[in-house]
Amino acid sequence: MEDILLAPPEPEVVMNPVDCFDTPGPMELEIGCGKGGFLLERAREHPDHRFLGIEWANKYFKYAADRMARWGMLNVRIMRTDARNFVVCHLAESSLSALHVYHPDPWPKKRHHKRRLFQESFVAAAVRALQPGGWWAIQTDHGEYFEWIQELLMPCPQLTQVDFEHPAFVPTSKTPRTNFEVKYVRQGRTIYRVAYIKNEE
Ligand SMILES: C[S@@+](CC[C@H](N)C(=O)[O-])C[C@H]1O[C@@H](n2cnc3c(N)ncnc32)[C@H](O)[C@@H]1O
Repeated sequence: MEDILLAPPEPEVVMNPVDCFDTPGPMELEIGCGKGGFLLERAREHPDHRFLGIEWANKYFKYAADRMARWGMLNVRIMRTDARNFVVCHLAESSLSALHVYHPDPWPKKRHHKRRLFQESFVAAAVRALQPGGWWAIQTDHGEYFEWIQELLMPCPQLTQVDFEHPAFVPTSKTPRTNFEVKYVRQGRTIYRVAYIKNEE
């Protein structure tokens, strides 16, 4: 279990998640991994990739970490921290081959919009952290937040919108689904999806 849990970096420390693995391979980050349903399935499908999940809620963090340990996964790590702060203040440049953000908390009230994960500073830092050719997949059930996200990402000159199920990143027939996605699909809610690739320099 100790190998799976990563401590958040100390202030001012830049972290490259690949340094936490002994094996090579593409590095994928999931922000707000919740109970870890998506992360674990994807890690199982891609044993040659490395995965880091970041989760703030202690209850879900513990649940996901426990599952990772029970599944004996060697290519997954999890960290309990505020993902926005981690990406903006600590995540190394060009360290990610893929970034997954699924059903981020929408904070629907206008006075709470400042709590949303997607802000200009977060987007700039996430783009910086992606490698050229890196993939950023986003999914939400909240239409207004989806528009907010697109308004932040569409003007980024380093990003090109691509098919969400891009064959380069979803090579298997079965795309893992997140826990919230499963719940909301069952309720008949619309799921909004978008993906971008960071342009080659
Ligand atoms: C609506 S849930 C979605 C969980 C999962 N992605 C899914 O689709 O099933 C949002 C998750 O993001 C986590 N979260 C919210 N803000 C966060 C932050 N700043 N840093 C890390 N995790 C965060 C919440 O604790 C929660 O588990």
